[in-house]
Amino acid sequence: MKILFLTHSFNSMTQRLFVELTRDGHEISIEFDINDATTEQAVILFQPALIIAPFLKRAIPETVWRKHTCFIVHPGIIGDRGPSALDWAIMHQRREWGVTILQANGAMDAGDIWAAETFPMQLQKKSSLYRKQVVDAAVMAIRKALSRFQSKKYTPKPLDYSRADILGRWQPSIKQIDRAIDWQHDRSQIILRKIYAADGFPGVLDTIYGTPYYLFDACLETKLNSDQQPGTIIAKRNGAICRATYDGAIWIGHLKQKKSDETGELGIKLSATLALKGQLADIPEIPLAPCAPRVNETYQDIWFEQKNNIGYLHFTFYNGAMDSEQCQRLRAAYLTATNSGVKVMVLMGGTDFWSNGIHLNHIENASSPADESWRNINAMNDLALSIITTDNLLTIAVLQGNAGAGGVFLSLAADQVYARKAVLLNPHYKSMGNLYGSEYWTYLLPRRVSQANASILIQNRLPISALEAQQIGLIDDCFALDIIHFKKTIEQLAEKLAQHPKYEEFLQNKVKQRLLDDQIKPLQNYRDEELHKMQLNFYGFDPSYHVARYNFVHKIPHAWTPRHLALHRSQNNKRSGSIFIKR
Ligand code: COA
Repeated sequence: MKILFLTHSFNSMTQRLFVELTRDGHEISIEFDINDATTEQAVILFQPALIIAPFLKRAIPETVWRKHTCFIVHPGIIGDRGPSALDWAIMHQRREWGVTILQANGAMDAGDIWAAETFPMQLQKKSSLYRKQVVDAAVMAIRKALSRFQSKKYTPKPLDYSRADILGRWQPSIKQIDRAIDWQHDRSQIILRKIYAADGFPGVLDTIYGTPYYLFDACLETKLNSDQQPGTIIAKRNGAICRATYDGAIWIGHLKQKKSDETGELGIKLSATLALKGQLADIPEIPLAPCAPRVNETYQDIWFEQKNNIGYLHFTFYNGAMDSEQCQRLRAAYLTATNSGVKVMVLMGGTDFWSNGIHLNHIENASSPADESWRNINAMNDLALSIITTDNLLTIAVLQGNAGAGGVFLSLAADQVYARKAVLLNPHYKSMGNLYGSEYWTYLLPRRVSQANASILIQNRLPISALEAQQIGLIDDCFALDIIHFKKTIEQLAEKLAQHPKYEEFLQNKVKQRLLDDQIKPLQNYRDEELHKMQLNFYGFDPSYHVARYNFVHKIPHAWTPRHLALHRSQNNKRSGSIFIKR
């Protein structure tokens, strides 16, 4: 079926529905919601059988929904209406939440209901809830709605608030006043919930040293006690600040300064210590060892666990972005961990993201973004090199969450790569202003996929599902939708590998292969060639990368839909099923 996605951006929800429905054989074209006239034009050009709005911030024009069936993916249970569904669900401590597929009509979220799914709630950031439970539920609900639509026998159900089982209600747009922290009276748990309900957008507006900032990336602290005034900054660690609360303390990892509307300046999200640079000299640094075990309820972005002969190295960098220091700390932790006597090292990433490559926000904030880009990519390369050249144990990369750009190629540095079934991979750099990319991708990618598929991946700039990645050999396997089952399977797999009778042989083969590869072309040559191209991206005459990065970190709305997404606006306008060449 020809389906047009009308969406604010190609975000994780839109990407996931795109890969799943393409796999189901549908022909999907995408149009960004720019204005009514552009939407109307897209509909005329594509002539879709159905329109789906996975992530929309404005209403669909009446001229469109009157003539075409339009499904709205609403991140709320049946009856829930309004633009702040997830924020309120977290604030109100809902035990169960869901996704509803509605047919667009003249009233916001009040159209007839085609399908709905529910899931149990757990306290987590709004963005994590959205990327995991909401997106998974949306995939199921959309599939159900599509089969009902295609059957031509199903009549969608009108919203009927008189029914006792309709628990959702209209909820207003949440305001900063609803989110405001009362430092004198709010307990840490309440503050945590408020910040979670606003993470990753818009954050909770607060004042630090007299300047307004939006707060993100909160985490409880139960060991550090302080008799300081609630709200006071009492410690710092790895980019985060710890603030005293009425009943303990809370860490804040990221801040975005609220700029005055008059200047037209846009704030960007930065690690808290970077945002407050120069003001924290007297605040004590409370370090954790680079390879420390998990400490509950404190700010810890890297930790190491050892079970039997297996090492599990976790790195949960906010938004999967890895700045130069984070890469260096992770490399130091990795090198320590690989000398701890384990036979298999499992690189766990984080539950939200494995990695999204170099830290574009911190680069943007640097006095010389070109120099910081150079430093960051070299730090990523050093990390990748350490993994590739590990010769005393076997390594496994475990993608619990999505990976993008250099983050995907970093995972390929490991001997084996596994992903959770719901994971999306964006193994390409080009969308960031024609960035060439490094992380030894020119060595790592052809090791795993055919030349033809490698160039499809790099040129097409499209996300792929874990399943498709496995089918083309980019990763070894994918399983389990939920994180608990996934981790369990990974543990079994790692144990099996460590106890395998041919373990020593596997290790020897790996070392031999590395030597052979190096004889054909040394790793340094791959690095030099890639960095030569990256140098042109960073320091050359073409500013595309700097412009694309500026737009990305400042969230400048798209002025048009890229042609590789808008099939109806391109010459090559057919796409359904896999675009890859079978192995
Ligand atoms: N540096 C800094 N921030 C990054 C980042 C990076 N490399 N990659 C993602 N983010 C941030 C986004 O700005 C967004 O921030 P927010 O919390 O303020 O909304 C957040 O992470 C989530 O990203 P989003 O784009 O909403 O996630 P997604 O799952 O919809 O899309 C990607 C994933 C990977 C396609 C997309 O984030 C992307 O293109 N990232 C840039 C990758 C890149 O070019 N890296 C540099 C080259 S190695």
